[in-house]
Amino acid sequence: MKKLLSILLCACLLLNVTACGNVEDSEPSETGNSESESVQPDTSVQPDESVQTEAEPESTEGESVSEDNEPAETATGSNILVAYFSLAGEQYEVGVIEKGNTEIVAEMIADATGADTFKIESTEEYPTTYDGLLDISRKEEDDPPEIADTVDNMDDYDTIFLGYPIWWGDTPTIIKVFLQSYDFSGKTIIPFCTHAGSGLAGTDRTISGLCPDSTVGKGLAIRGSTAQNDQDSARESVTKWLSDSGY
Ligand SMILES: Cc1cc2nc3c(=O)[nH]c(=O)nc-3n(C[C@H](O)[C@H](O)[C@H](O)COP(=O)(O)O)c2cc1C
Repeated sequence: MKKLLSILLCACLLLNVTACGNVEDSEPSETGNSESESVQPDTSVQPDESVQTEAEPESTEGESVSEDNEPAETATGSNILVAYFSLAGEQYEVGVIEKGNTEIVAEMIADATGADTFKIESTEEYPTTYDGLLDISRKEEDDPPEIADTVDNMDDYDTIFLGYPIWWGDTPTIIKVFLQSYDFSGKTIIPFCTHAGSGLAGTDRTISGLCPDSTVGKGLAIRGSTAQNDQDSARESVTKWLSDSGY
């Protein structure tokens, strides 16, 4: 069964590269880390730690907020939220992990920007095995999960860094539920993801499609194994991307 699901995942990766690959997707890493060294053992897809360049953030002005969501003056003056979905447990290439790959990147972004964080969690617990996740992720496409908590003060944020793992060459369904749960009109959404070879996989376009009145900033894709096991390199990628994006 695991082998079959791995084959399906590989097919998905290949399809994604064919269907979603574009100039931005195939840009080499700007971070100089070792993303291009390893490949998933069962796929011919080359890793792609791309930084997409379709849209620039609207502004670097604004203010960030403190942990209790009270406005607080910062150097950027922006109201920034880092919202992310990420799972610990058994993950591809990294074994059983205590903190999700995307969560590690989310914390780096929050550290660097002084942003608030919001962890997107389902009301139902996710399985802690990789096979279990492959199974539930497919079922969720027809039966979307409910998000456990809400961001009550979403109006306070101008910029939302939105983080997720790539699932089946797309955002997990819970990210779509999140995007449909708020009015993001006029806000800037900046995607970041971790992955096992697909890069951003065109998920910035998924976000644009769901939030046509938002600006979608250039995204960052970091391989999950880099986020988990080579955090200096991951942080370097994050720092450069934030700087290039004006944060
Ligand atoms: C259900 C499922 C589907 C996945 N599909 C893909 C995929 O299509 N492309 C890819 O590069 N990685 C894929 N992965 C690997 C994850 O994107 C990667 O392990 C990620 O870093 C996990 O992040 P997290 O620990 O924050 O949840 C998949 C993982 C799971 C569990």
